[in-house]
Amino acid sequence: MIKIRINTKPLPYCFLLFVSAFISTKSVAQLVVIPIETQHNALVLQTDTNKHLGTIYFGKKLSKSTEYTKVSAQFKQTPDYTGVLNSVYTPSGSRNLLEPAITVTHADGNNSLDLKYVKHELKNINSNVSLLSIFLKDPIYNFKVTLQYKIYFKEDVIEQWSAISHGEKGNVTLHKYASANLYLKGGNYYLTQYHGDWAKEMQPEESKLTHGIKTLDSKLGTRADLFQPPVFMVSLNKPATEDEGTVLFAGLAYSGNFRTDLEVDYQDNLRIISGINNYASPYTLKPNEEFTTPVFLYTLSTQGKGAASRNLHNWARDYKLLDGNGSRLTLLNNWEATYFDFNENKLARLLKDTKKLGVELFLLDDGWFANKYPRNGDVAGLGDWQENKKKLPNGISSLLKEARQNQVKFGIWIEPEMVNPKSELYEKHPDWVVKQPNRPEHYFRNQLVLDLTNPKVQDFVYGVVDDLFTKNPELAYIKWDCNAVIYNAHSATLKNQDHFYIEYVRGLYKVLEKIRAKYPKVPMMLCSGGGGRVDYAALQYFTEFWPSDNTDAMERIFMQWEYSYFYPSIATANHVTDWGKQPIKFRTDVAMMGKLGFDIVVSELAEKDLKFCQEAIKNYDDVKSTIWAGNQYRLSDPRTANVASMLYVNEDKTTGVIFNYLVNNRYGANSSSPILLKGLDPSKNYRIHEINLYPGTNSTIKADQVYSGDFLSTVGFNPDVNSGRTSVILKIEQAK
Ligand code: GLA
Repeated sequence: MIKIRINTKPLPYCFLLFVSAFISTKSVAQLVVIPIETQHNALVLQTDTNKHLGTIYFGKKLSKSTEYTKVSAQFKQTPDYTGVLNSVYTPSGSRNLLEPAITVTHADGNNSLDLKYVKHELKNINSNVSLLSIFLKDPIYNFKVTLQYKIYFKEDVIEQWSAISHGEKGNVTLHKYASANLYLKGGNYYLTQYHGDWAKEMQPEESKLTHGIKTLDSKLGTRADLFQPPVFMVSLNKPATEDEGTVLFAGLAYSGNFRTDLEVDYQDNLRIISGINNYASPYTLKPNEEFTTPVFLYTLSTQGKGAASRNLHNWARDYKLLDGNGSRLTLLNNWEATYFDFNENKLARLLKDTKKLGVELFLLDDGWFANKYPRNGDVAGLGDWQENKKKLPNGISSLLKEARQNQVKFGIWIEPEMVNPKSELYEKHPDWVVKQPNRPEHYFRNQLVLDLTNPKVQDFVYGVVDDLFTKNPELAYIKWDCNAVIYNAHSATLKNQDHFYIEYVRGLYKVLEKIRAKYPKVPMMLCSGGGGRVDYAALQYFTEFWPSDNTDAMERIFMQWEYSYFYPSIATANHVTDWGKQPIKFRTDVAMMGKLGFDIVVSELAEKDLKFCQEAIKNYDDVKSTIWAGNQYRLSDPRTANVASMLYVNEDKTTGVIFNYLVNNRYGANSSSPILLKGLDPSKNYRIHEINLYPGTNSTIKADQVYSGDFLSTVGFNPDVNSGRTSVILKIEQAK
């Protein structure tokens, strides 16, 4: 017989977590249960009689929290020969037989690890956020792991990481050091993963996980996201849809090599182990040094992908993304308008065009620097951050003056982590470059990566930004690029080369920390030859990211759709360019679904096109707060329908914007049926009218009709998209 004692004392956050002691009348063993509860879910951990802590439940919160301990008995699976299949952090070398979360070699050369529960503590950070620390220890070795869970109650988001330390008589080698080790029971598991390359970022693939291990990882060093982004989804039982099904959204918040193993074990359970990629990176941990892993973040939704994505958006805006609830600047970028070919006069004209167009900032892209090896192409000059005297004889300060005269702000492109071999920087500091001393150099976009493990290089990179701001305090924006991966990983100064990849990322974060300590708010775009670098660790320092160099509006509909599952629209920088063949209206409408910018030759725009853009920027001003801060609903999927449709609704459900696009040009393709709207108040009445019309065209939408929210979500609304109306933006307003 088991006697259950539950601590239900009304502590302020006892709804988040409680500890109950299960005392068997027969044995002295004390089982500890730790339910980690968020608004809708519970992740419940429990010790066994040997104090091994395992996951006994992860799913929808039960109304009776005493019932979590009855869950395991409902599963009649094959035996667990290890007793640690469901471990919260699987150690290796002792009884474990599957993929471990941690593998070590102790100071005495022994390879075994066992981790037992010691205690746990809960700290309430505020009314929504709490931090749970669970202390684990090896019973034989003085080796400890603290599992940290930062719990965001309202958003159903958990950030998990671990801190590893020891007090052994010598160094311990960490061969694997995951951030988190989840355990799910779902019968079938459907993984949505992403892959990509330059201009092809965020391509989704869904597959049923089979027994064994599926690994998602990066070994690129920098721009880890290029071939395989760290974010993914797993649906339990059957593939989740926008509004139905249980689905986990997750990703490692880390800008370097990552590795996520998804293992369906012989009992049919899913183990997810994620952390820094241990590839070429055994870590030597000194006594009393603490190794802190990056955050693995996740949210579980039992109401499909839409809810999971909105949870992440809310969490990101409130807690992660820099200035997530702030404003963003519309801009004109000169990259595609001029590439490297510009001078002061040309830029002066572009500054005037910035004003004429009606955007807030001019962004000067690549090509403004370097003298001995001028940056007139991507083959030279990178690293030499002095204004090119030929192109800019009067320096950046004169451009800032010009910008002021045109009443626009000014921003600039940098790529401070990189160097061209043809540069003064390389000549002066060959030892600052990542390369193998005895092997030929190998280039990615004709460049090499600077060795950020070296504190001198960290100072240099910080100095690039600090000098720009010190000399030009009016500078209002930075586009921070990163166009190469790491080949020949080696540092000329690092003592332990096995630490290279880890120290590189630490160095990068040190620089970004220092920049943000001095310049806390200045907007910075995270760019990496497109979307090669976006993750939630980097986004703590950046206000937005560049999803792809591919700005073909048709491609962008698909790409932005996928990014929108994980990142809020306010963080997604979209520029109108000449990549695609679509009319300017189509291109602008697509770019408006996030943070709007332009990269076109304004002076070459036809009169009506210019007028359209000017009006569109005004319209954007009117609806941008709903796009940035509202709730996002994916209504019609471009991959399965002729029409893509995306809706943003403000918090109090009084206004919304729907973006609709024809994505199929076969004969007769159109929005033949109404599209069901979501997120509106069924009891409110609404009017819908079309905005962003091209000059001289009329809308086919009757603006005077009133519809109830109930009608719009039950019957739907037809945006009337067809080959004559390929892009339609509708504004929804509550009818008073
Ligand atoms: C990368 C960026 C582009 C542009 C170029 C400049 O490719 O993604 O937007 O800034 O570099 O070289």
